Amino acid sequence: MLHTESWFIGFAFGFAPFAYIVAALLFILALAGLSRQETAQKGNYAGIAGMCISLLAFFFLIGTTNEAGMSLLLIVVAMAVGAGIGIYKALHVEMTGMPQLIALLHSFVGLAAVLVGFNSFLITPGAPTAENAFHMGEVGLAVFIGAVTLTGSVIAFLKLSGKIKGKPLALPARNLLNLAAVAASLILIVVFAHTRTVYAGLGVLIILTLISLALGLHLVASIGGGDMPVVVSMLNSYSGWAAAMAGFTLGSDLLIITGALVGSSGAYLSYIMCKAMNRSFAAVILGGFGTGSATHSERDYGTHRETTVGEVADLLRNARKVVITPGYGMAVARAQYPVAELTRKLRDMGVDVTFGIHPVAGRLPGHMNVLLAEAKVPYDIVREMDEINDDFAGADVVLVIGANDTVNPAAQEPGSPISGMPVLKVWEAQNVIVLKRSMGNSGYAGVTNPLFYRQNTQMLLGDAKTTVEQIAAAL
Ligand code: TAP
Repeated sequence: MLHTESWFIGFAFGFAPFAYIVAALLFILALAGLSRQETAQKGNYAGIAGMCISLLAFFFLIGTTNEAGMSLLLIVVAMAVGAGIGIYKALHVEMTGMPQLIALLHSFVGLAAVLVGFNSFLITPGAPTAENAFHMGEVGLAVFIGAVTLTGSVIAFLKLSGKIKGKPLALPARNLLNLAAVAASLILIVVFAHTRTVYAGLGVLIILTLISLALGLHLVASIGGGDMPVVVSMLNSYSGWAAAMAGFTLGSDLLIITGALVGSSGAYLSYIMCKAMNRSFAAVILGGFGTGSATHSERDYGTHRETTVGEVADLLRNARKVVITPGYGMAVARAQYPVAELTRKLRDMGVDVTFGIHPVAGRLPGHMNVLLAEAKVPYDIVREMDEINDDFAGADVVLVIGANDTVNPAAQEPGSPISGMPVLKVWEAQNVIVLKRSMGNSGYAGVTNPLFYRQNTQMLLGDAKTTVEQIAAAL
């Protein structure tokens, strides 16, 4: 036993609730801070501070228990191993590999919720009684959400990392299968909450876990690889609810609050992503768009015009106002550093340079903002789509760097798979220069982009990093 003094026990139990409230407030501040580039770092610090305070309170509480020394040792060792792996991964992951890493991390939250649920059930002394039926219900729900999150996230990870095909699994009556699995799980949770013996309870819990695991697997396997980013954000939400349910089973208010914050923010993020892609949430869950099958338009848009690095450098040198709209290709080419260098040069020459960021440019929310911030592009010249869309008409040159769907005017016409998706109106500028590697490939949605064939558009084909470096050098 580490501390038996009553003052310490009193202090620990008095301090913990207060610390948890402060930590919860800091987590809310962290989320608020992370919503803006300028405050993102402060948001991160608020989150770190909240985590440190809650850990401190947790350690104090452990200090009041029997076997405190051993418990602390085990927790510190587990945390050190986890932190070591986490730091290694954070330092080595490529921005393009971020979605699959996030998916993998969600699977751990799901697994933790399942394990906490089983543990909570097994340590209940004696056979479950009617009094703890409510607690048993919480355990059942935690295991259900956790198991769905676990297998769903693993499948999302495998699809995103290309370890399995992105093509959706199209079993007959798949929606009916999902519905049946949800109904069976809910019935099993009720049955589980009313079991009277440990063995009966364990049996039902195991069947519930297996059905939930199969549901998570099938749910995500049925969704096309293209829709995976939305699915990842949806799984993020599930993992939050799984953590909140684990909080109920453990009687931890902080875990309930944190889980609910993650759950609701994840759900809202999924909503924003669907809205920015003009997709309904139901359409994503039921599959379709982004299934990997390209939908090339049969329409003939004429021929494209190609340009050279020298011509683009001349155009930029003589421009007053330049807007840069980056997309997924900038991330693939890792062209953010030469883009930042080019921006510096142009601004030194007195050219007004701004960036136009589409909410779903790239493959993650905020993908472009992170890359530009990493390359030290000033925040105040990076504008959101709504802020910049009216400015294109006044721009002399727009540089479209590895963006395609997000600048596709076909979105404004009926009949296209991306019809209705809000896009950056780059075509309103005097000159549009599109940097991409070839004319053959379409963007993420597989839709032909008529922008490439417009009179004021010129194509500068090649890898974005090399091309931008060459333009900067030519300047
Ligand atoms: P995309 O439409 O995916 O187009 C990327 C472009 O980059 C392509 O034209 C590609 O053409 C070019 N490219 C690739 N590698 C390149 C390189 N090394 N150098 C130069 N160009 C390169 O990108 P976007 O405009 O950013 O649109 C994002 C898409 O992802 C949207 O459809 C959006 O709905 C979807 N999406 C985004 C999110 C989030 S949250 N960001 C989530 C889900 C889905 P080449 O291959 O010919 O080079």
